[in-house]
Amino acid sequence: MPTFSGILHFVVTLFAVQSSTTINISIPAPNGSIQIPRNLIGFSLEQDRWVDWAGLDERNQFFFNVLDNMKAISGEPPIIRIGANSEDHTNFNPDVQSPQLVFPTPNAVTPFPEARTIVVGNAYYQAVRFLPPDTHVVWGVNFGAKNITAANLEARAIVEAFATPDVKDQGIILDAVEIGNEADLYRDNGQRPRNYTPAQYVEEWTEFATNVSTAIGITEDSHTKFWGASFATSSHANTNGFSPQSIFENGLLDSKAGSFISTITQHHYSGTFCSGGGKLLQDLMTKETIRSNLTSFASDAKAVRDQGLDFVMGETNSYSCHGAPGVSNSAGAALWTLDYALFSTQIQSSRIYFHEGIGFKYNFFQPIALNRSILDASPLPEPIPPHVQPQYYSAIIALEAIGSHPQPRIAELQIEESTVSGYAFYEDSQLVRAVFINLKAFLEGQEEERGKVHLKFDFVGGEVGEEVTLKRLDIAHADDTDGLTWGGQSYETSDGRVSGTLKTEKVKLSAGFDIRDTEVVLVSFS
Ligand SMILES: *[C@@H]1O[C@H](CO)[C@@H](O)[C@H](O)[C@H]1NC(C)=O
Ligand SMILES: *[C@@H]1O[C@H](CO)[C@@H](O)[C@H](O)[C@H]1NC(C)=O
Ligand SMILES: *[C@@H]1O[C@H](CO)[C@@H](O)[C@H](O)[C@H]1NC(C)=O
Ligand SMILES: *[C@@H]1O[C@H](CO)[C@@H](O)[C@H](O)[C@H]1NC(C)=O
Ligand SMILES: *[C@@H]1O[C@H](CO)[C@@H](O)[C@H](O)[C@H]1NC(C)=O
Ligand SMILES: *[C@@H]1O[C@H](CO)[C@@H](O)[C@H](O)[C@H]1NC(C)=O
Repeated sequence: MPTFSGILHFVVTLFAVQSSTTINISIPAPNGSIQIPRNLIGFSLEQDRWVDWAGLDERNQFFFNVLDNMKAISGEPPIIRIGANSEDHTNFNPDVQSPQLVFPTPNAVTPFPEARTIVVGNAYYQAVRFLPPDTHVVWGVNFGAKNITAANLEARAIVEAFATPDVKDQGIILDAVEIGNEADLYRDNGQRPRNYTPAQYVEEWTEFATNVSTAIGITEDSHTKFWGASFATSSHANTNGFSPQSIFENGLLDSKAGSFISTITQHHYSGTFCSGGGKLLQDLMTKETIRSNLTSFASDAKAVRDQGLDFVMGETNSYSCHGAPGVSNSAGAALWTLDYALFSTQIQSSRIYFHEGIGFKYNFFQPIALNRSILDASPLPEPIPPHVQPQYYSAIIALEAIGSHPQPRIAELQIEESTVSGYAFYEDSQLVRAVFINLKAFLEGQEEERGKVHLKFDFVGGEVGEEVTLKRLDIAHADDTDGLTWGGQSYETSDGRVSGTLKTEKVKLSAGFDIRDTEVVLVSFS
């Protein structure tokens, strides 16, 4: 005869959409684990409006705070790359105090277009003093215009800015200079002839880099080096098209200036919103395509590492042309960001720089008040003050998972459930934390009950304490654009600082725990 609890169990399982999966976790750092930098996540800023981010005459305190929150967790501020598309449209005039910008008319597809004309002076570069102390910076100079005077004057202004006592005393350091952005697209945007080749690129790059290295003082012994490539896409091939491999083949590294390259950087977006069109949030939030988007660069990363150079994803985000409305700015995009950033370590990319521009849909934060909609350029009744967007939570979660140990390691966990990804984190070769991401989109207005997956564990090679602490990213719906909480706390505050009381759960490991659709759980082992 069935017992009452047996019937109850039957009834409950009938209505709850639940599956269960057991995950193997190695307690000592496994052979495949990878050392990662504590500041894995950096930012790439569209440089036309750089002083809106940093401040011109005084610090933009909101921007400072959101970076400083990250520094407080990892012990190191995020690295900031300043440049991108507008890098190749910037001219220099020593007499200019406030940057002179001319913008195209905003439209529904591009509510916040990049400036068409950009003229900057020394004050623009000196705004770097408003970054958090100890920030490392990568700055781009104009290569697209093929005007070596512009590149030379910009380089001189950059080196001067980093030499001012205000900047030096705060430990704000120039890691690298980038010469041109996405030169593989110059063929299409009119900055070079249609038949522009990697060989021509290498020749011109070498001429500019030789000049810029003299202006900046880049030598074998200098801390400052070059970032090379910065291509929009890669042919992944040695001979055809633009790729790290093809520019090596054409002698990029053979010149003296080429020997000053420390890092090869590749850009990538999962798709594009350049001519509008609908996008599906679940398409972005898919474990399998997050992996395939990144593994396509594994051969490039290997070719770069074989040369003894560092490889980074120097500019990336969800969908190019500033993101897709309702997708890139949503809570679901935060889950994409977290999985994408952590998985990038698995292709031997050391850091990942998420691209940001004023009013872009895929931003982690909007550092100034905006008076039109980021989704369709419609005027807002009242300006919306500076605020964080959902992706910011992913940066916080990634950094908390990595921790502040000087040499943290990461291993991806093999999980049979196709919508759940997970990573284990190690300190001194010992398991300390794991993070799990349930990428199944639970959408507003969805009729069926919110699903969940029960996670259980098999530990290999040692023991951990029976009790663990869980911290959850709580999201009401994947298509929400605000109202997220991380361990009960919010970063959606007027100053970008965290508010509310920290809420965690203690659970017995042997029982496992549930992760709901559209949720993140950070597990701290004891
Ligand atoms: C966990 O480890 C066991 C034993 O080595 C293996 O049979 C099983 O396939 C592993 N599970 C996963 C999800 O990798
Ligand atoms: C890890 O590497 C060591 C040394 O190469 C080897 O002895 C050991 O068997 C490897 N362990 C696993 C689980 O592959
Ligand atoms: C080259 O750059 C300099 C400095 O930015 C600028 O003054 C000059 O007009 C540019 N020349 C051309 C031909 O655009
Ligand atoms: C770099 O280019 C500028 C502008 O053409 C020129 O004045 C300067 O002499 C060049 N410097 C070197 C070291 O070639
Ligand atoms: C990248 O992800 C998108 C979904 O965001 C998918 O449509 C596309 O096919 C993926 N590309 C690769 C190379 O996996
Ligand atoms: C919006 O702000 C810009 C400056 O950022 C200003 O030029 C413009 O007039 C403002 N528009 C409205 C409708 O207030």
